[in-house]
Parts: sequence; C-alpha cells; structure tokens
Amino acid sequence: MKEVTFTVLENAGIAPRTFWMKLSGDTSGIRGSGEFVQIALPGKFLRRPISVHDCDWDTLTLVYKVVGEGTEAMSAMRPGDKLSALTGLGNNFDIDACRSKALLLGGGVGAAPLYLLAKELCAQGKEATVVLGFNTAEEIMLEEDFANLNARVHIATMDGSAGTRGFVTDVLRIKNLSYDYFYACGPRPMLRAVCGAIKGPGELSMEERMGCGAGFCYGCTIQTAGGPARVCADGPVFKKEDLIW
Ligand SMILES: Cc1cc2nc3c(=O)[nH]c(=O)nc-3n(C[C@H](O)[C@H](O)[C@H](O)COP(=O)(O)OP(=O)(O)OC[C@H]3O[C@@H](n4cnc5c(N)ncnc54)[C@H](O)[C@@H]3O)c2cc1C
Ligand code: FES
Repeated sequence: MKEVTFTVLENAGIAPRTFWMKLSGDTSGIRGSGEFVQIALPGKFLRRPISVHDCDWDTLTLVYKVVGEGTEAMSAMRPGDKLSALTGLGNNFDIDACRSKALLLGGGVGAAPLYLLAKELCAQGKEATVVLGFNTAEEIMLEEDFANLNARVHIATMDGSAGTRGFVTDVLRIKNLSYDYFYACGPRPMLRAVCGAIKGPGELSMEERMGCGAGFCYGCTIQTAGGPARVCADGPVFKKEDLIW
C-alpha cells in the first residue's frame, strides 16, 4: 500500500452524475486490473474506495458515480487540484484463467474496472466480448472505449431505449456468445443473476461499504465457501464458486 498525492488532469462528465477523472502521479503501487484506490476527501474521516479504471506509468484514471457527499466533492475538483489516494489495494482479476475468449459483464458504473481488464486480455491476444447493462440509453458509457480495444460490445437497457431490453443476463439468453471464462462487476443482484445464468467458470468483483480498506477493521467481511473473507484484502475479486448468495 502506498499513499500518493495525485494531481487532477481532467474531470469530465460522461453520463448523468458519472465522471471520468484522469490523475497524474506515482502509479508504481498499482499492479493491475481489479484493484482499487482509497481516496481522502475533505471533511470525510473514511476514505472512499474507487476502482482502477485505467493506469499507465504516470497516470491513473477513475470512473465514478456521484451518490453522496464524497463523490460530490470529487465531481467539483478541477485540473491542478491535489487528491490523496492509497494505491495497491485489493487483488487482481486472473487474466490467465481465460484460455482465449473472455466474457466481461458490467452493470452501470461496474463497467469501470473491466476496461483495464479488457486491455490486459487484448494485450495477451485474447478475445473480449463485453456486455454492459444500464437503466436507459442516456446512462450508456465506455461503449466506444471498449470497442476501440477491439472488444465486441453488447448493450442492455432496462427500458429498451438501446440494445437488448432487460438485464445483461437477457443478452446472454438471446445472443449466442462464445467464451471460456467470465468476469463481472456491478450491483449485487446483477452478480447473483450472472452466477445463476452462467454454468462455466468465472470471477466477480464485489462491493461492500469499507472502513480501513486495508484489511484491519473487518468492516467489509462477507461469507464465502472458505469462511469469512474481507472484500478489501481478500478481494474484491472472488471466484464464482467461492461466493455464497
Ligand atoms: C472495491 C470498491 C470499488 C468501487 N469502485 C467504484 C468505482 O469505480 N466507481 C464508483 O462510482 N463507485 C465505486 N465504488 C463505490 C464507491 O466507493 C461509493 O459509491 C462511494 O464510497 C460513496 O461515497 P459518498 O461519500 O459519495 O457516498 P456516501 O455518503 O458514503 O453514501 C451514499 C450512498 O451510497 C451507498 N454506498 C456508499 N458506498 C457504497 C458501497 N461501497 N457499496 C454500496 N453502496 C454504497 C450508501 O449506502 C449511501 O446510500 C466502489 C466500492 C468498492 C468497495
Ligand atoms: S474495510 Fe477494513 S478490513 Fe476491509
């Protein structure tokens, strides 16, 4: 774990109440996709966990949705502002678990950490099919970014205003997608439905309210097949067979 002071380079709205923030700073503590950073915000005792959306040797990109005061404060940040974050938190998606064809399923802002994962998979010469679910067409984000990686992208919207009407699992039911391993991130009901719909192996990034974010307070504990596990330190990525719904 490393505490880094980043500088905001860009902080732009990409969907209603959803922002894309690019930061410059020391990213040497970040190992790969699946990890998150813990962001310090003025007046907030607890840092806020946000997934690594993209990362290179000196920039870190986050995609976040404004849901409360902490993320509201992030949305007000301007280029040049400083932001303190703990990096190197959480485990990574296992890109070697996929033989050649990966299915990536994201619900809402849960699409964010799948982008770096798709980049890593494509860099290994693997095929990525991405299914993104939203409530409505105006919430769609990152579709082009995934497409620019040469991933095949499918959209589901609850109101049918774009793509397949319904959930990401409706896309699985209707389209004949070919994959040997899946990765998913999104709201808990979506992850549960994905585990029910897909017979094959895969892994899922879980979200829990966090305290320390570094394994000390046990505030983020969930029950798994192997006993209690901390989402921040033992996850956030868990194998499908380890999760108990
Ligand atoms: C490992 C991890 C990675 C995450 N990655 C992202 C990301 O990439 N982009 C993003 O937008 N958000 C992400 N989140 C969720 C993000 O941490 C919360 O939305 C944020 O902390 C809310 O802070 P706030 O001060 O704005 O809202 P708060 O005032 O803290 O909360 C506002 C509302 O959001 C709910 N809430 C807050 N945190 C969570 C949570 N962790 N799970 C479920 N409900 C919550 C609260 O119950 C409350 O109803 C992630 C969470 C975890 C645990
Ligand atoms: S948040 Fe403290 S142990 Fe996970």
